[in-house]
This record gives sequence, C-alpha cells and structure tokens, in this order.
Amino acid sequence: MPNQNEEVLLRVEHLCQYFKSTKAVDDISFDIKKGEVFGLVGESGCGKTTTGRSIIKLYDITSGNIYFKGKRIAAGTLSYKEAIKKAREEMKSASPDRQAELKGLIDEQRQLMKEAKHDHKHCDQMYADEIAKEVAAKYEPLLAAAPDAEKPELKKRYLDEMRVAKKQRFITQIQMIFQDPIASLDPRKTVYETIAEGLVIRGEKDKKVIDDKVYSVLETVGLVREHASRYPHEFSGGQRQRIGVARAVVMNPEMIIADEPVSALDVSIQAQVINLLNDLRHQLGLTILFIAHDLSVVKYFSDRIGVMYYGKMVELATSDELFAHPLHPYTQSLLSAIPLPDPLYERQRVRIKYDPLSAHDYSEEKPTLREIAPGHFVSCNTREYEAYLAQMKAKP
Ligand SMILES: Nc1ncnc2c1ncn2[C@@H]1O[C@H](COP(=O)(O)OP(=O)(O)OP(=O)(O)O)[C@@H](O)[C@H]1O
Ligand SMILES: [Mg+2]
Repeated sequence: MPNQNEEVLLRVEHLCQYFKSTKAVDDISFDIKKGEVFGLVGESGCGKTTTGRSIIKLYDITSGNIYFKGKRIAAGTLSYKEAIKKAREEMKSASPDRQAELKGLIDEQRQLMKEAKHDHKHCDQMYADEIAKEVAAKYEPLLAAAPDAEKPELKKRYLDEMRVAKKQRFITQIQMIFQDPIASLDPRKTVYETIAEGLVIRGEKDKKVIDDKVYSVLETVGLVREHASRYPHEFSGGQRQRIGVARAVVMNPEMIIADEPVSALDVSIQAQVINLLNDLRHQLGLTILFIAHDLSVVKYFSDRIGVMYYGKMVELATSDELFAHPLHPYTQSLLSAIPLPDPLYERQRVRIKYDPLSAHDYSEEKPTLREIAPGHFVSCNTREYEAYLAQMKAKP
C-alpha cells in the first residue's frame, strides 16, 4: 500500500542492546513513517522483541539513539565511551598537536554522552513540563478574567488538568501488544481493570470517563460490554489477544508495536486478529511496528519490511520489492519457507537453507547496509554489492 505521508514518526539509529556477551541487537537503523505498517521479521532469537522493548524504554539501551516525533526518547552511551577510549590510546604516542586535537575530541564525546544521558532520563519529564506549561497558559488568563463567583470552580478544573498534565509520559504514545496473550494478562484482574489500568496510572480519576473509554474500546476490538467483568482465563486465545489490543488502544497511542500478536493463535484465528489491526490502523490512523517470525504473516499487511538475522538488519525494502527481488540469501531462505496453496508449486518448492559461512566471504571486508535500488537496502560488502547491482539490472 503506498504511503502518502512521508513524516518520520520513529527513527532508530545504530541501536545496540547487549546482554553481557549476547549482542541481542547489534547496530540496527530504520525509520517508520507516520501511518505506515513496518514489518520486522526474522527467526527466533534474532532480536525482534528486544528491538521493540528497547523502543518503549524497557531497557537502558547499550548504544545508539531512538527518536519519536523528533524527540530523542532513548540513547545509549557505549559508542561515546569507545570513541574516548580509542582517543586515549592514540594519545599515548601522539604528537603534541595531535594530542591537543584528541583532547578536543574527548571533550566533545563527553559532552555528547552527557546530553544522551540527559535525554534518555528526562524525556518524559520534559514532555510533562511542556504540557503543564500549556495548561497554565490556558487557565491563567481565564482565572484573571473570571468573576469571583466562578473562580473556585475554574481553579478546581485548572488543578485537575494540571495534576493529569504532570503525569503525562511521552512514551505512552507508543503501546506494545505482547507476544503471549496468556502471560501478558494478569489472571487476577478483570478485563475492566486490565484495560483501565493505564488510564488510572495516567491520572484519570473520573469513573464515568474511564467507563466510557473501556466500554467503547471493547466494542472497537470486537468484544462486548458484558466481557468487562470477566477474567482472562474465561476467554479464548483470540479474545485474549483482543483484550491485549484494547489495553493498548485505550491509551490513544500514535504507534503500536505488535510483537508476534498472532503466533500463539490457531491459524483460523490469526487472520481475524490481523484484520482487526488493519481496521484499527485505518480507523485510528495508527502507525504499526509489526513483529513476526515468518514473512507470510507480514506480506499483505506491511508497507515495508525489515529482515533481521542475529541482531543485524540484513535487508530492508518495501513489501512488494522484497517479494519481487529478494537479494540477501537469508531473505531468500525465509521466502522459500512460505507454503502456497498450490499443489504443483508445493511439490516443486525447495527450501533454501541459509548458511552464513558458505554464503558470504567476509574475511577481507565486513558487510554494511547499502542501498541497491531506491529504498531497497541489503547488508553486503563491496563485492556482493556489485553482484547485487548486476542482478537487479538483469531483472525486469
Ligand atoms: N533480558 C535478557 N537477558 C539476557 N538475554 C536476553 C534477554 N532478552 C533477550 N535475550 C537474548 O537476546 C537474544 C534476542 O532475543 P529476542 O527475545 O529479542 O528474540 P526474538 O527475535 O524476539 O525471538 P522470538 O521469535 O523467539 O520471540 C536471544 O539470544 C535472547 O536469549
Ligand atoms: Mg520475541
């Protein structure tokens, strides 16, 4: 589906998330435009969930930057530390002139690191302060102009709005739907409590407002009001995932990260949940990062697709382009795994296995993500790059 709006909503820049020796996500970059569905695909353990959790700040990321609506919401420090370490090493044997230069470089890296830490820690606070300022700007002139009799009522509204403003967190504009609908729902909470929780945390106290929002979102996701008082175990897998969707949507998010929302469900139910997400996307103008481990699930739903392998992005293109001209051998292997309802094709379908050691020779030059055709990026070194270019030229 062509995307008219080119505004970048989310930008992930050189994201690294390491767990001790595991480089779960290792220097990936991509952006998601407003209104777009971006599919993130790759086998189990390649770092998809870690990417999603890094975006919603469940980790202090190791390195890189994440921007949402132009604001830096997460930043890591490893790249600055490494640059400082390298400069210090070089300092030992550098000429006095070079030493002065290196000192400048170290100071600069220190400053950048300080700014990164500041933004990572305070982005929500800065946002709440902004909203609080807007509320003050709205009410102060009103209060000054109001007749004395109306002042107490106005003052109360002002304080209420201010209380809510101070609790705003920028990051709640991104909501995540989790991989496992059973594990992610608290069995002791009713559906109502589960869905209302985020609103309450955000400072909503008005029972009527909460009721209205909860009941209306239940309908939006295809459940009914009567479901509100029940507990998660009373629902089927598909319904539970609808509760997960409701819990995310009730926060009125701008973006949703759907982490394999259908992989725990029966095939017959999968399409229903995908259709629901697709409807919501249009109805609510949502932007979606859709995580899946196979390409068949994301094919029709995603505008663009990023393919991950062992913490790295190996290919990124529009959905149509990726299916028409898959270049990286890992993408080809994923494609070969998709069954089609065509017996003849199925009999001839050969699964391509991906073995990185025999597929690439990176002994002399390591791969980087390069643009082979407009918007089509592949991880490759110079030799592979030229081969891919030739391959693209030869194709219609
Ligand atoms: N909190 C953690 N502590 C240590 N290692 C972790 C942690 N979370 C993830 N990992 C490791 O990081 C790697 C990436 O995990 P991640 O959950 O992101 O993969 P995934 O692509 O979502 O896989 P799946 O398709 O199975 O959900 C794995 O090797 C995993 O074991
Ligand atoms: Mg996962």
